[in-house]
Amino acid sequence: MDSSVLVLNGPNLNLLGTREPDIYGSETLADIQAKVERRGRERGLAVNFRQSNAEHELIEWIHAAKGSADGIILNAGAFTHTSIAIADALSGVALPVVEVHLSNIYKREPFRHHSHISRVAEGVICGFGSDSYLMGVDAMASILARRLAATGASPLRKAK
Ligand code: DQA
Repeated sequence: MDSSVLVLNGPNLNLLGTREPDIYGSETLADIQAKVERRGRERGLAVNFRQSNAEHELIEWIHAAKGSADGIILNAGAFTHTSIAIADALSGVALPVVEVHLSNIYKREPFRHHSHISRVAEGVICGFGSDSYLMGVDAMASILARRLAATGASPLRKAK
């Protein structure tokens, strides 16, 4: 495995499977984790998959990613729409970020149309259910391959 990716999940995503299945589908977060890890292996990415309902814990994990991960795939849940602190943490570690959402946030309530994360993300994938995560892995693999081709080393390996 050449590169390592932190996949972070925010509040209430631990309820997937039973939470509003008409919006979020019937897969559990563990189902999604298994699919993401498999796709990561296929793309040469070691996946560290985590979920927390606590903003501070997500921020600590983002800080810890500097030096231990090459990129972050993030579904910040409702913190997407509220958390300048998470966006600042992402800017602070300066790792490539892919923002993902299960639902199409632009098709939903107006308060979901603004994301603080998008400002610091390479791109956003939303509306494809758990496939959004798999597309996120593919996008991250492309971003890291491009960086590797440009610099000859991943950010993680350069830091070592
Ligand atoms: C979500 C969309 C958010 O608006 C919501 O608060 C979530 C899940 C999604 O994956 O579709 O918790 O991030």
